[in-house]
Amino acid sequence: MKKDLMRIGISLPSNLLDRFDEIIALRGYSSRSEGIRDSIRNYIIDYEWMSEQKGDRVGTITLIFNHSQRGLVDELTDIEHDYSKLIESSIHVHLDDKNCLEVILVRGESQDFKSIVEKMMALKGVKHVKLTTTSPGRGL
Ligand code: NI
Repeated sequence: MKKDLMRIGISLPSNLLDRFDEIIALRGYSSRSEGIRDSIRNYIIDYEWMSEQKGDRVGTITLIFNHSQRGLVDELTDIEHDYSKLIESSIHVHLDDKNCLEVILVRGESQDFKSIVEKMMALKGVKHVKLTTTSPGRGL
């Protein structure tokens, strides 16, 4: 079966593209397009993994963001307050003059983890959001 190939044009900061090109070269990809296709597949798999999470879980949300992005710290704080029932604790580390690392411990319904993570990742200035979850281990 022949798959239709679509051509797209995207705009990226040059430092992001330079780093991406370095990595795909190191990994031996034959083309930038193949690296981008794999990145998109990973993005979709990550979404599907989050969508399939069910029930009572514990987890961490790891966040890297640019604190000098206008309005971002306030928006993140608002989200964290909206989900205060879910959040047990958080750690904030100032990584350098621009970047902050936050690790948020969550406990509750895993579909709520997906909601909070998706609100955070859509904000401009948020560079990375990673969710990990595990079972609270009841009945072991
Ligand atoms: Ni900070």
